[in-house]
Amino acid sequence: MVEIELSPEEFELFRRYIYDKVGIALSEQKSTLIKGRLNKRVNQLGLRTFREYYNYLVADESGDELALFVSAISTNVTSFFRESAQWVWLEGYLPQLIAAKRDKKLRIWSAGCSSGEEPYTILMFLQHHLSDFESWDIKILATDISPKVLAKAIVGSYEAKAVESLPREITLRSFEKVRSDTGISYQVVPHLREKVLFRLYNLVTDPFFFKNRFDMIFCRNVMIYFDEPTRHDLIGRFGTLLPRGAPLFLGSSESLTTHRETLKLLGSSIYQRL
Ligand SMILES: C[S@@+](CC[C@H](N)C(=O)[O-])C[C@H]1O[C@@H](n2cnc3c(N)ncnc32)[C@H](O)[C@@H]1O
Repeated sequence: MVEIELSPEEFELFRRYIYDKVGIALSEQKSTLIKGRLNKRVNQLGLRTFREYYNYLVADESGDELALFVSAISTNVTSFFRESAQWVWLEGYLPQLIAAKRDKKLRIWSAGCSSGEEPYTILMFLQHHLSDFESWDIKILATDISPKVLAKAIVGSYEAKAVESLPREITLRSFEKVRSDTGISYQVVPHLREKVLFRLYNLVTDPFFFKNRFDMIFCRNVMIYFDEPTRHDLIGRFGTLLPRGAPLFLGSSESLTTHRETLKLLGSSIYQRL
């Protein structure tokens, strides 16, 4: 593989483009990261300079190259029942939610869902805690900018180590064990998968097309790369999609410094729409 240099001018092109397209604010220190992580890709495409790669990226209208670029410089790390304190909180909130939802209809958005562990966790949690789960009309909208993680999420198949720490009852009820030449995997059962609508969606540039509001929104560990104006704008838009009292879940390392008049901190990076 040829080691390709990234000039400050080329870095500046990527920095601007990525900010405009996905709201990720790349600091100058990220120049080494881009060079290191994208060198292989530039070589693979048979290109000779990062400038050529930039032209290729901008010309790709499918958005696939952008998703690949974002994956290379960010992380898709996720897991089932991540942020355990939030699930404990949700258990306490459930009676209030059940009482309010006489129509037994729940609409939930997992924004930045990665490979699906988050939306499936929501369903497993509800199935575990709602004795009449089957009589509820539950739909989860699960969106991500990366087609690669969404493809995995749609199949809903995970390695044994991803499910090994789950309570046995959940593993038995929510997954089918699949044996193949490559080993054993666990696939989320069809009637849970059917409740999730996976969609390619860029939180920064795609329009908010939603007709109805959501009973909860999860946007955890997604905004870490966004700068303050982008975060501010997105949180404001989430606020418009939540009815009074509904929760917004962020990642445990994320907090809101704005929108305090509409979103109140309840603890564990959970905010309630006022
Ligand atoms: C670290 S994962 C978090 C997954 C899950 N929410 C969790 O907390 O476990 C962040 C995800 O956000 C997605 N993402 C990053 N920027 C995005 C954007 N502008 N629009 C939509 N998704 C984005 C990434 O592709 C990645 O899958």
